[in-house]
Amino acid sequence: MLNYTNIFCHGNISLKIGREECFLSIGHLAVPASPDDGVPRVWFDPNDIAGNMSKVLIACEESQAVTIAMRLCGHEAYSCDVEPCSGGHPEWHLQQDVTPLLSVSWDMVIAFPPCTHLAVSGARYFTAKRADGRQQQAIDFFMQFADNPCPRIAIENPVGIMSTVWRRPDQIIQPWMFGHEDRKTTCLWLKGLPLLSETNRVADPGLWQNWNKVKPGPDRGKIRSKTYSGIAQAMADQWGRLL
Ligand SMILES: C[S@@+](CC[C@H](N)C(=O)[O-])C[C@H]1O[C@@H](n2cnc3c(N)ncnc32)[C@H](O)[C@@H]1O
Repeated sequence: MLNYTNIFCHGNISLKIGREECFLSIGHLAVPASPDDGVPRVWFDPNDIAGNMSKVLIACEESQAVTIAMRLCGHEAYSCDVEPCSGGHPEWHLQQDVTPLLSVSWDMVIAFPPCTHLAVSGARYFTAKRADGRQQQAIDFFMQFADNPCPRIAIENPVGIMSTVWRRPDQIIQPWMFGHEDRKTTCLWLKGLPLLSETNRVADPGLWQNWNKVKPGPDRGKIRSKTYSGIAQAMADQWGRLL
């Protein structure tokens, strides 16, 4: 028997469900509730009781860059990350492992899975990471987005092994195509979504990479992996209009 405690929120409605084994069965959906670890969680109503907004999951996003842009475009977007959000909207943040959320029927999933064990920039460690299973774990995590039945999926990652392990990306973008004078080669794998159009081409700084010059510190990785606001806006404008 597992015990769960949950707080369900929809608009202004908030209902606390007690400690008992439960699966949320709403319509055709059955969502495993969060573990009873004493941490209060914001949950959401996947059956859209109060409105008819499209539901968008922004997976592995602590910055909430895309979530906020999607919200401003009128969509019911949720960021999900094991880390707390830094975007200032905890009411839209699901701080948990994303895996159970992938059994929910979303209208769109945009995922930013960790690239630490996949990106070519870390190739010198691949032998060790293959041997101890870290790389396979990262591949499996990535592939749960790729294999999800959601009709519209985008997966973002830097250049890495997924191009050969799975397939080549549909598109490669740069921040300088979206108003940021920076170079960070970024791959997009798309299902049911069009290629992202450039919105504001500025100078390509060539080898000069601002994001790579973040000073060492506890938040270096987090700062370096935040989605550029111009790219987040383009995703919300161009993909959000399909919802
Ligand atoms: C490459 S970063 C992407 C950051 C994103 N671009 C943003 O702007 O916030 C990968 C993120 O995945 C999160 N993450 C790792 N494992 C996760 C899991 N099992 N469930 C949810 N998020 C996870 C990490 O905490 C990290 O924030």
